[in-house]
Amino acid sequence: MKPQIEILPDNEALARRVADKMLEQAQHSIAERGRFTLALTGGDSPVPLYQTLAEDPAYRAFPWQKTLCFFGDERHVPPDHRTSNYLQAKKMLFHTGLIPEENIFRFHAETPDAEEVAADYEQTLRKHFSPKDQLNGFPRFDVILLGLGANGHTASLFPCTQALQEKKRWAVANQVPELDKFRLTLTFPALNAAREIYLESIDPRKRDTVINVLKAEELNFYPYPVQSIAPVSGNYCWFLTEATAPSDQQKESRQLAGCPG
Ligand code: 6PG
Repeated sequence: MKPQIEILPDNEALARRVADKMLEQAQHSIAERGRFTLALTGGDSPVPLYQTLAEDPAYRAFPWQKTLCFFGDERHVPPDHRTSNYLQAKKMLFHTGLIPEENIFRFHAETPDAEEVAADYEQTLRKHFSPKDQLNGFPRFDVILLGLGANGHTASLFPCTQALQEKKRWAVANQVPELDKFRLTLTFPALNAAREIYLESIDPRKRDTVINVLKAEELNFYPYPVQSIAPVSGNYCWFLTEATAPSDQQKESRQLAGCPG
């Protein structure tokens, strides 16, 4: 699905723009449903956002007390391992103590059996997304944060992996041959049930991937996993920095003036 695209001059501007959108969605979700459900991502792209949410006084009023924090994916490592997405969020966001510990739901990726980790996480999700909080039987997150891998992966949905085909489960263990490791990830049906999906990419090395994915979309050619992100009933927006955005898109985007809201 071709996302809405917004191009920001730099990492700080992008982080503030996404933080503004998250705050707006949080206030709306809490007014409507009494809570805000958020799925965090790993990688480098969310770092400026996490820092902004943790340190910028403009977001001191973020309603963390009514925010439930989950993860879109995780590495199969203990929570204190340097590559853990949970550890990254802990160092950047959770350390503030703004988010109550009981509102944070991580993959118990220290468990040796990756399948068991995924099944356990699905149980955790089912406890917090009752049928009224589901869309077509999948958890309806208010906001899901994603990134874009150089090979077109998102969350831990890598090219040529089993998890790409999953149609029933909410979370799975995904054997990733190119990493020779398992990853834990929400599935496409679970991701696509979200109200808002925000993909951030700040790494200039991903510009070619951005160009290739958008070109493939135009050609109705779907080699990249990220192309299966298509909210059933929601908004889908890419936030790119000028360093990551294709030049023609820069021109087009300025004229189109960005994402809704
Ligand atoms: C992870 C992420 C992964 C990431 C992309 C982009 O756990 O690694 O969830 O999908 O978003 O690899 O990474 P960057 O943000 O570093 O470009």
